[in-house]
Amino acid sequence: MRLAKYLAHAGVASRRAAEEIIGDGRVTVDGVIVTDPARDTDDKHAVMVDGREVAIGSAVQERAVWLVHKPRGVVSTAKDTHGRPTVVAMVDAPDTRLYPVGRLDADTTGLILLTDDGDLANRLTHPRYEVPKVYVADVGRGGIAVPEHALRQLREGVVLEDGKTAPAGVRQLRPGVLEITLREGRKRQVKRMCAEVGHPVAKLKRVAFGPLRLGDLAEGRVRRLSPAEVQRLRDAAAPPGRAPG
Ligand code: URA
Repeated sequence: MRLAKYLAHAGVASRRAAEEIIGDGRVTVDGVIVTDPARDTDDKHAVMVDGREVAIGSAVQERAVWLVHKPRGVVSTAKDTHGRPTVVAMVDAPDTRLYPVGRLDADTTGLILLTDDGDLANRLTHPRYEVPKVYVADVGRGGIAVPEHALRQLREGVVLEDGKTAPAGVRQLRPGVLEITLREGRKRQVKRMCAEVGHPVAKLKRVAFGPLRLGDLAEGRVRRLSPAEVQRLRDAAAPPGRAPG
């Protein structure tokens, strides 16, 4: 049977969507990436999608990725020992075991992703893939501008107790409000960097993660990503040799 039809029968996706999944290099047959949807296959071969084995009779659902606009006071762990609300509880998906992709501090608002795809979550947060995260940090005390020398220090790297930070994108959107783009993700990194240059953060919001922006999704709201958005995320964290295109 054609590989695309095989994936459709295994419940991975529609036949058309399966052709795209194959074309994107996400399918292996007997350990070898196959990009031809017409490749002949059957249950005697080991067919894998994103490293997970599929077979007819063992329906596999497309992995889910949700975008959440986290409010203040909600924690980004899957469970909280102090009984605080969690980002996971904001999504109504009882049959899916979702995990946060990275962390935001309880008092940070903005974009956080949840997924049941552990491999994707690991790659999106691994520093090796340098997926950019964009934050808006309010450091203004009464709208006082951050001087150029401090902006330069933030851009070039700040020495923290766990080492010097990698080069960052930093723009002053208006006096005392900075847009900071990081390609690494250490604990409380934005707050520690800003404090180190003498401009502690009063308010922090993440507005983008890789190719995704928070857009006009209201605080406290969630939405499931479309298959095309999930694909763009996968491309943003593609292993070497599996670059987009
Ligand atoms: N940097 C911080 O300091 N806090 C966050 O929540 C995210 C990035």
